[in-house]
Amino acid sequence: MRNFILGMVITILVLLIGGLGLALLGFLPTRANSAPPEMERHIAMSALDNSVERHAPRLNSPVPPTDENLIEGLKLYTMNCAGCHGGIDRQPSAFAKSFYPPAPNLILHPPDDAEWHVFYVIRTGVRYTGMPAWDKTLSEPDIWKLTAFLTRVEKLPPAVQDYWKKSSGVTPPTAGQEGHDDHK
Ligand code: HEC
Repeated sequence: MRNFILGMVITILVLLIGGLGLALLGFLPTRANSAPPEMERHIAMSALDNSVERHAPRLNSPVPPTDENLIEGLKLYTMNCAGCHGGIDRQPSAFAKSFYPPAPNLILHPPDDAEWHVFYVIRTGVRYTGMPAWDKTLSEPDIWKLTAFLTRVEKLPPAVQDYWKKSSGVTPPTAGQEGHDDHK
């Protein structure tokens, strides 16, 4: 039994040191201009989702989803996020596929997670990706407004839809139109 455990420990050490060695010798790819393999994407998305579920506090938004706050959220989105996540004119961002992993289009595929989940991702960012943490550049109420907007992209009240149409020339998406997929 003792030899078995010793064997296990040595195997794990060899794997760890081997992996580290390969990385330090330059065998790991650094290119961001390729698409992640399907299995990597799947594992990384599950790891991200589960980590947010484990770490994010279950906060209730202090910002009510009034027309005014949703329009503020839309404006904040256009100013800070559309460059990577796609504009309200439904055009894809020129940059989206230049990240590894790519930035999802949040207008065509809005997140269907709870508000506390989306708030946490925006506030703290996503490590090892192009998604910045916004806690140093946006106030918490502004992050809640963004969250309110993003979790309601397909079910906005009429006044907000009118504002969207006026400022982009394009009708906002409604539920069912584009299908639901928050990871594309
Ligand atoms: C510099 C590019 C960039 C900017 C600017 C940016 N993001 Fe991101 N964002 C990313 C990338 C890349 C990912 C993908 C991370 C991943 O796959 O785990 C991402 C992921 C996300 C996610 C998670 C989506 C999911 O599938 O769970 C949300 C929500 C999000 N961003 C919101 C925002 C908001 C809101 C803003 C503006 C305040 C913003 N992002 C600005 C690059 C960006």
